[in-house]
Amino acid sequence: MTTDGLTYAGRLSDFAAGTCHRVRAGGRTLVLIRNGDGVYALDNRCPHMGFPLDRGSVDDGILTCHWHHARFDVTTGGTFDLWADDVPAFPTTVVDGDVWVDLRNGRDELAHHRRRLRAGLEQNLSLVIAKAAVSLVEGGADPREPFRIGLEFGTRYQSDGWGPGLTVLTCMMNLLPHLPPEQHARALFHGLSNVAGDSSGSPPKFEVGPLPDAPADPSTLKRWFRRFVDVRDATGAERCLLTAVQAGLDQAAIADMLFAAATDHRYLSNGHVLDFTNKALEALDIAGWDLAETVIGSLARGYADAGRMEESNAWRRPIDLVEILETTFEDLPDILAADIKPTQWDGRADLIDTVLGEDPQAIADALTDALRQGADPVELADAVTQAAITRVARFHVTNEFGDWDRALHTLSFANAVRGGLVRSGSRELVRGIYDAAMSVYLDRFLNVPPARLPSANGHTSGAELLALLPDLLDRQQQVDEAAGLVVDYRATTAPVEALLESIGGNLLREDRDFHTIQAVEASIHQANLSDDPADATLALVAGARYLAAHAPTVRSQGQTFQIAQRLQRGERLFEEAPA
Ligand code: FES
Repeated sequence: MTTDGLTYAGRLSDFAAGTCHRVRAGGRTLVLIRNGDGVYALDNRCPHMGFPLDRGSVDDGILTCHWHHARFDVTTGGTFDLWADDVPAFPTTVVDGDVWVDLRNGRDELAHHRRRLRAGLEQNLSLVIAKAAVSLVEGGADPREPFRIGLEFGTRYQSDGWGPGLTVLTCMMNLLPHLPPEQHARALFHGLSNVAGDSSGSPPKFEVGPLPDAPADPSTLKRWFRRFVDVRDATGAERCLLTAVQAGLDQAAIADMLFAAATDHRYLSNGHVLDFTNKALEALDIAGWDLAETVIGSLARGYADAGRMEESNAWRRPIDLVEILETTFEDLPDILAADIKPTQWDGRADLIDTVLGEDPQAIADALTDALRQGADPVELADAVTQAAITRVARFHVTNEFGDWDRALHTLSFANAVRGGLVRSGSRELVRGIYDAAMSVYLDRFLNVPPARLPSANGHTSGAELLALLPDLLDRQQQVDEAAGLVVDYRATTAPVEALLESIGGNLLREDRDFHTIQAVEASIHQANLSDDPADATLALVAGARYLAAHAPTVRSQGQTFQIAQRLQRGERLFEEAPA
């Protein structure tokens, strides 16, 4: 028997049966266990939280870790407690009373952690998800890989379809370009854990499948889809969507179907339907449109079940906003079909003032006039989004705390309308610009009185200012101080990228909150799109104020992530003396 390539671990006679022995071999610390006629070698770090397994005990071939009592099969290292993970096992050979260990063929770590991520999602185990995210990202996997795993899982194992968890996951992917690489795993961890939490306890979603032989007439499918949504028939609506995907309708046509139905009624579910739709389409852009059937199909339930603002008192009284809108919409097909030459529209500032004003009829008229003048609907949506940004940037803290969400809903919706128009050019979606503007109008009390916008204090060091932000967010309600910091920073010559990175990084430090994540992502997105530095600053003021209003949290999720990161990097959570 040759021992070429094997590593000497000790004399068999030194290892008493049924006990654990720590040995150093080939630069690793192992636990050797004699059980029955065999001798087995496992990595000595408990995969759960790193406790030395040689301090555990063996009974009937099962090794029990003495920290949280995870149990492992001594022959394979496989665990009976999925929250702990399998421990790497190494083949052993006994030659002339010497024990040799084969350390050469380790497991495929990336494949292992893909499996572990799926297990973590299925069991809703945050530490397992965190370890998998760290191992995959720091092991060289493209972040889109764990994102895609989360997307496939979340759209299949959530009977209500697309929801906040998948939205947070997609927001996190959108934030990655603004975060340093060492923060990517943390961002994914937040998104993936949110998906697991949403799916936990939910029955899986069974797809209804497309119509047989997938008829490919886009206008019929679009008409049917809108009809089924109108009568709240989720199954019929989903079947139309899946048929459209199966028939190979292009991405813009599918988006147009969705956006038309999402704006057939007013401001569905406080804007969530349109916002979720926009995020689902962004998710497909990131993960690949080969997942379109499951992702697009997951939206149907939300459309059918959505609350409609026609049924809402605030949209009906004292001024009937729905009537204003429906009357206005009668003219839209002709205006949008007219061959108006695109012009250099210069009414943005006036339009924002009008949208922030007190007269809903004037708001509707201003939008229609701008369209008649040849303004691009995307420009109008952008102006309304900036008005929604202003509501957050000037939100007065004397409002009820929950009203932050109200301002955020409008901002998310306006942001989604603009994104949808860029993507699809949907004519029906133009109605969404008006809905967003009416929601900004309804939010006007949030700016009474308007919070003061700070002016720059003459700081010259952007780096020093950013160093202050974490301390500031350690204290409650430093809303105006956060705004001041952003304004000061923008008055320096420091790059905006560092500010985005700092706001994003501080967001990840907190326990995740759906609306705060949406607010920060939307404000960073708006700041990036803006050509006007003042508009970009206002967007970042809005994001920083929202974050400051919701910080500090307990930060327990950050603690879970740090444990995972230290474990995967081989750091000791539990100190042990060298062997
Ligand atoms: S069970 Fe071993 S460290 Fe927790």
